[in-house]
Amino acid sequence: MDIPVVTSGDARIPAVGLGTWDLRRRTCVRMVEQAFRLGYRHIDTAEMYGNEREVGEGLRASGIDRDDVFITTKVWPDNLAPADLERSIKESLARLRLAHVDLLLIHWPSPRIPLPDTIGALCRMKQAGFARHIGISNFTVPLIEQAVRLATEPLVTNQIEWHPYIDQSKVVASCRRHGLSVTAYSPIARGRAGGDAQLRRIGMHHGKTAGQVSLRFLIQEGAVVIPRTSNPERLKENMAIFDFELDPGEMDEIRGLAGGARVVDWSGAPNWD
Ligand SMILES: NC(=O)c1ccc[n+]([C@@H]2O[C@H](COP(=O)([O-])OP(=O)(O)OC[C@H]3O[C@@H](n4cnc5c(N)ncnc54)[C@H](OP(=O)(O)O)[C@@H]3O)[C@@H](O)[C@H]2O)c1
Repeated sequence: MDIPVVTSGDARIPAVGLGTWDLRRRTCVRMVEQAFRLGYRHIDTAEMYGNEREVGEGLRASGIDRDDVFITTKVWPDNLAPADLERSIKESLARLRLAHVDLLLIHWPSPRIPLPDTIGALCRMKQAGFARHIGISNFTVPLIEQAVRLATEPLVTNQIEWHPYIDQSKVVASCRRHGLSVTAYSPIARGRAGGDAQLRRIGMHHGKTAGQVSLRFLIQEGAVVIPRTSNPERLKENMAIFDFELDPGEMDEIRGLAGGARVVDWSGAPNWD
């Protein structure tokens, strides 16, 4: 089955990708290889995950053509000064053994390094051909607006924490206004959604699991989802979300779960607003 794409400008982002945070060594190689064999065409990594080498190895082991896949990596906030950003992407490409990534993201904004310097450098990395597309991650509404004003190349996504327990409507609306797609990270709330009784009950009407309902909810909200798993069976489960549809009542019920709880720790993050 071909996975649908979400478009932003001329970027065509497969709507489901495999998240790889915390996938290490052989597990990472095996899961990436297996994901591609099953039909995934999108992998999310980052210099901080320490697994770019394994992601590249998994891609080559799968035998899938490089041009048929969408690989995202991210630059860590310590490396957002222009010279560091350029070094960082070159090192990522060397570890991945690729000539370019499909999407290069600023992993988190840095309060230390001026955003104009970072966005300028990010745009130059696209112009230099190291990344086909560029974007941002963990950007708040005011920062999205600054970034869009500064960018001379299109920003195609903002990757943010999004699952049924968090209301991201303000950030999502800002992304839409500025033509960015939204990529939902932690889309199963690090496993919590998989055990949710309400999502399970909704899923029973469709012959689907609670995890699939969480992913399908985000897809119907227009997001790209990047669930992570270290379990080959769940690779299949997490992509089998295009053969059912949640009705408006079910969508509203799931929206009602949002209580604002994040699963990713922002406590070390400065106040960027
Ligand atoms: N940009 C950022 O700052 C940022 C931050 C966090 C994450 N991310 C990216 O987003 C990806 C996904 O987020 P995440 O890893 O935080 O969390 P997640 O994908 O929401 O959850 C992963 C957890 O859920 C379990 N799981 C997977 N599929 C399931 C299913 N169908 N039913 C029930 N449980 C399921 C997995 O366990 P098993 O392994 O046992 O299946 C794993 O423990 C990351 O891997 C990373 O690529 C980006």
